[in-house]
Amino acid sequence: MNAGRSARIAIDEERVIGRISPLLFGGFIEHMGRCVYRGIFDPGSALADEHGLRIDVVAALRELNPRIIRYPGGNFLSGYHWRDGVGPVAQRPRRRELAWQSIETNHFGTHEFITLCRMLGAEPMLGVNLGTGTIEEAGAYVEYCNAPAGTLEADRRVANGAPEPFGVRYWCLGNEMDGPWQIGHMDATAYAVKAREAAKLMKWHDPSIRLTLCGSSSSHMPTYPEWDRIALEICWEYVDYLSLHFYAGNRDDDTDSYLALARQFEDHLDALAGTLRYVKAKLRSRHDVYLSWDEWNVWYKDQTMQGGWQEAPHLIEEVYNLEDALVVAQWLNVFLRRCDVLKMACLAQLVNVIAPILTRPDGILRQSIFYPFALFSRYASGDSLDLLVQAPTYATRMFGEQPLIDAAASYDAGQGKGAIFIVHRGRTEPLTLDLEWQGRAPYRVASIYQVSGSDPKAANTFDTPDVIGIRPLPGAPVVDGRFRLQVPPLSLTVAVVER
Ligand code: AHR
Ligand code: AHR
Repeated sequence: MNAGRSARIAIDEERVIGRISPLLFGGFIEHMGRCVYRGIFDPGSALADEHGLRIDVVAALRELNPRIIRYPGGNFLSGYHWRDGVGPVAQRPRRRELAWQSIETNHFGTHEFITLCRMLGAEPMLGVNLGTGTIEEAGAYVEYCNAPAGTLEADRRVANGAPEPFGVRYWCLGNEMDGPWQIGHMDATAYAVKAREAAKLMKWHDPSIRLTLCGSSSSHMPTYPEWDRIALEICWEYVDYLSLHFYAGNRDDDTDSYLALARQFEDHLDALAGTLRYVKAKLRSRHDVYLSWDEWNVWYKDQTMQGGWQEAPHLIEEVYNLEDALVVAQWLNVFLRRCDVLKMACLAQLVNVIAPILTRPDGILRQSIFYPFALFSRYASGDSLDLLVQAPTYATRMFGEQPLIDAAASYDAGQGKGAIFIVHRGRTEPLTLDLEWQGRAPYRVASIYQVSGSDPKAANTFDTPDVIGIRPLPGAPVVDGRFRLQVPPLSLTVAVVER
């Protein structure tokens, strides 16, 4: 094999960026298309358990291991009344759902969602409707979920089968309220005043909850990042996180630029981290607000968003290929590199709708993006390390010269384990990569996992489900603090190290 050019990564376990929040490996499920109905929840299916949850989907979700799940939307949230989704199923209203022009049966609601989260060991993150919803409804939702028995809403929860409070800690104050497409869209000031008043009621019901304010729905919005500044100035002391959303795509079929999108993700986080610092300084505040990237993914191929008043229509069932998986991997690298300010993130979405898992009545398919998420979620823990990366560059139309290697690393002192995450963006040549530990070195590279291929457009299908997957490679001792890896073009390599 042609050994190609070489690159070097220097690692020092004492050079710490910050603690990696496990909540960076979260997911999002919305009442949209076939995400919930006929995806996760399908009581009529032979593959459903006693809760109506698809056994095969739950098993695949366990492999992804989302630590937090955001629910119930999305644009759906802004027309959703949570009381429709609790109580006896037969009495729940069947409604016209305006965001996706679909029929909503409300057969899945808060209790079913909490059951799913408990099965997966994931934190629930609930949104309150600040479109058609009221601040009363927002406060009452916190009472319903978190208050002990003895008052109206809490007693309703008990009557509906949950004697103990759900203890939902994370809550979103609406969804993408800067977007003209949003039901009940407002300008920044109107939104922020409503969000602040909802936040007060919600935290009076339960001061231990953590609230996320809607930031800009994309860095391409004309109001970005001014929306964020205004909303933060009004709500600062009442909120704990600011949300950001972004969907990436290779619309011009410019793979070289597409594979360098980490540059853009990092700029986006930097701009909002700067906005947080500005507002904190301006308000002379001692309170901190962090970032939550609570919708992120590749999405540009399937734009089917009108459900034609069907139940569970096929909406935005994006098919993912190798280059998409490598963009997802870089996004996760960026999360580690900015974990000092980014504390939560939710892959949008988890099943069928722009998702790593696709379902059919008889089974599921793991798409290419499933694998990088599963690897990071499993191996990134402890501290994120500030790496020195020296790599040859390549030319991109969007970002100029960019390094061929995009990397991040974690070290978990408690476990005596670490991991280095390496994306090779080049399309033709392999790279010889020297890993060098400065200071204390691990004893060995325990295992190596690779996601790679020769065709950036290669994708898994139900007929050929294993085109893109994880290839395990043998590890070896680290000698004199050094380890050499061959990384193929178009690849993600994860090297797991151990003391
Ligand atoms: O995830 C799909 C949609 O994208 C969400 O409903 C919305 O918040 C975003 O625009
Ligand atoms: O990065 C933005 C701000 O910087 C955060 O709010 C604060 O924690 C840090 O000082």
